[in-house]
Amino acid sequence: MLKLLTIIGARPQIIKAAALSRAIKNNYSSKIKEVIVHTGQHYDENMSQVFFNELDIPHPDYNLNTGSGTHGSQTAAMIIGIEEILLKEKPDCIVLYGDTNSTLAGAIASSKILVPIVHIEAGLRSFNKAMPEEINRIMCDHVSTLLFSPTKTGYDNLLNEGFKENNEAPYTINNPKIFHCGDVMYDNSLYFSKIAEQKTNIISTNNLEGKPFILATIHRNNNTDEPVRLQALFSAIHKISIQNKVQVVIPLHPRTAKLLSQNLSSELYAAVQTSPFIKLLPPVSFLEMIALEKNASMVMTDSGGVQKEAFFFKKPCIILRSETEWVELVDCGSAKIIDANEEKIIEAYTDFSNLKTFDFPDLFGNGKAAEFICKSILNYINTPTLIPA
Ligand code: UD1
Ligand code: UDP
Repeated sequence: MLKLLTIIGARPQIIKAAALSRAIKNNYSSKIKEVIVHTGQHYDENMSQVFFNELDIPHPDYNLNTGSGTHGSQTAAMIIGIEEILLKEKPDCIVLYGDTNSTLAGAIASSKILVPIVHIEAGLRSFNKAMPEEINRIMCDHVSTLLFSPTKTGYDNLLNEGFKENNEAPYTINNPKIFHCGDVMYDNSLYFSKIAEQKTNIISTNNLEGKPFILATIHRNNNTDEPVRLQALFSAIHKISIQNKVQVVIPLHPRTAKLLSQNLSSELYAAVQTSPFIKLLPPVSFLEMIALEKNASMVMTDSGGVQKEAFFFKKPCIILRSETEWVELVDCGSAKIIDANEEKIIEAYTDFSNLKTFDFPDLFGNGKAAEFICKSILNYINTPTLIPA
């Protein structure tokens, strides 16, 4: 039995982990034992527990209850906690997702005591090291043993950074193996798509049935923490909604909710709060989010995950950042990088509204990325028998 220790902490990681836990439960329960460690980076009920309840993720075996803090204090507390658990549990490998501080803490703790790292969502790059996530993902990739990239671009980024294509097993931190395997979030979106429609009523309770609406999310630190940028984003959203009489639904990340009154002008803050066209919601569940994405006419976001889900559900997307790791979405024309520029956001909305058809090619695998990852872990971490991937 291979023992795998999964680190989760932030909302998108909890959701991503559902795909692997499901694959293990359905097909590998006699071969893989998963121990789940929640760092506690996200802790509000609607940022954490809600996903365990609705996505059938096993209850975490450990919760470090780290909470919020500066990058250093938060990451340091997680490293200490993860190291203790690794020394006690002695897993065959650790599984890390994405690019958060929880990912970085797991990478530092495990690489120093030579626990092999499996990095899911490897190779993604924004080429902007002012983003904390870019530091986290680069550091994690470069101490990993098995690296699973969801996209060809991510795989090529790794080759460009010196990873080898045809190196032979055994794979180690010094001889890592890279894979292009599709996206576990595509697995999840396919799996939960119908369930979301059956189990949620967010569309009807918000009176959105049959109405075109924009789904918007904003939580990147450079957008929320810089008043000029936050003002530009909300001013654009407000103007678009009034001028086009279109509803905009905004599930607010707690970071954004806390900074809205502080960083918007008092006029705009009041206008956004009282507008009949803007619905500010608390963070919604993943099934509710899928329902919103499926029914929206357009998405505006600075989220990595939401950009992709817009694509999965065939919706045009305005990216509220100056770059993206998911360049394929932009290349095929269904997403535009616009950044926090009021005029350009309004222009992009008009352009997309006038376009009738979009191209959504298959870019993210076949919905079985998690199965592939499980097989590869069994093949290359600590076991001699090869299972056809
Ligand atoms: C983190 C990730 C980011 C990811 C996002 C997903 C890092 C550096 N950033 O950003 O890559 O896109 O998660 O959502 O790891 N807060 C609460 N309740 C919570 C969680 C957070 O109120 O349950 C508030 C706190 O004020 C906290 C702030 O949100 O200080 C930011 O939380 P943090 O986890 O540090 O970063 P995120 O912005 O969530
Ligand atoms: N999400 C959610 N509820 C929300 C907002 C987002 O369930 O209110 C989901 C979303 O569908 C996606 C993931 O959270 O799967 C994205 O997380 P987030 O935007 O916080 O982080 P990022 O992907 O940018 O790291």
